[in-house]
Amino acid sequence: MRLENRVALVTGAAMGIGKAIALLFAREGARVMAADISEQGRETEREILDAGGQCLFVRTDVSNERDVETAVRAGFAQFGTIDVLANVAGIAHESRAHELRLEDWHHILDVNLTSMFLCAKYVLPGMISLHRGAIVNIASIQGLLGFPGYPHYAASKGGIIAMTRQLSREYAADNIRVNCIAPGTVDTPMNHGVLSRVADPEALKANWAKMHPLGRFGQPIDVAYGALFLASEESSWITGQCLAIDGGVSARAF
Ligand SMILES: NC(=O)c1ccc[n+]([C@@H]2O[C@H](COP(=O)([O-])OP(=O)(O)OC[C@H]3O[C@@H](n4cnc5c(N)ncnc54)[C@H](O)[C@@H]3O)[C@@H](O)[C@H]2O)c1
Repeated sequence: MRLENRVALVTGAAMGIGKAIALLFAREGARVMAADISEQGRETEREILDAGGQCLFVRTDVSNERDVETAVRAGFAQFGTIDVLANVAGIAHESRAHELRLEDWHHILDVNLTSMFLCAKYVLPGMISLHRGAIVNIASIQGLLGFPGYPHYAASKGGIIAMTRQLSREYAADNIRVNCIAPGTVDTPMNHGVLSRVADPEALKANWAKMHPLGRFGQPIDVAYGALFLASEESSWITGQCLAIDGGVSARAF
């Protein structure tokens, strides 16, 4: 198993990409600290325990420093260490820049970007003392490419890519690797919400599929496999990178 003897803190583990990562990491031998603001995280915990794995769910608002500190403490108390961090929790909402309220700008940056700094801040001391660690941050192709209607979301995702590079340089000497993933459009509750707000969801789905050269949008497991690779020793010489898992979107010319 690729994450045997590893303890992984996975944020956003209640649903979507975070849940897929938590389940896959557990299947690969990791003991999982599942953190999410939604009580649905208990279902992730239950599924992992029922499959014979180890998991502790802690309700956590990742944008709240005290919550993050408490979750990391709980992880240490339960499992003794945390040597993998998957920063997944995130939110999105659409708005043109001139219509965007400042409080919504701050909210997106707090939940998507500041949260990843906070989780790293509290797990890094343990990783430094172990002289081992892998951090995987979930960014987005919106951190690499322009899409209209998401200035705050894109800024948060671009920030994640820059912070990933910076942390990778800062902690390489401690044998801590920091990478990120930039997914394309993935079939998760986040996008189910978008589909529920448009007049013709089938047409939008078809458009999303067409936008990706591979002809379909992604499934959470597509991203989870990338996170597993970046969390495991198979990527032990990779740090500071952004892996696009996007059905080819970022490779197309127009
Ligand atoms: N779905 C996509 O198309 C897509 C594409 C690129 C990047 N991403 C990124 O992948 C990550 C996961 O997205 P998803 O599509 O699975 O979304 P989702 O909405 O399906 O799941 C997000 C999870 O994060 C949790 N969460 C939200 N705010 C939180 C907070 N303050 N504290 C703790 N947990 C919180 C939610 O409860 C939920 O469980 C996000 O960072 C998102 O930006 C998603």
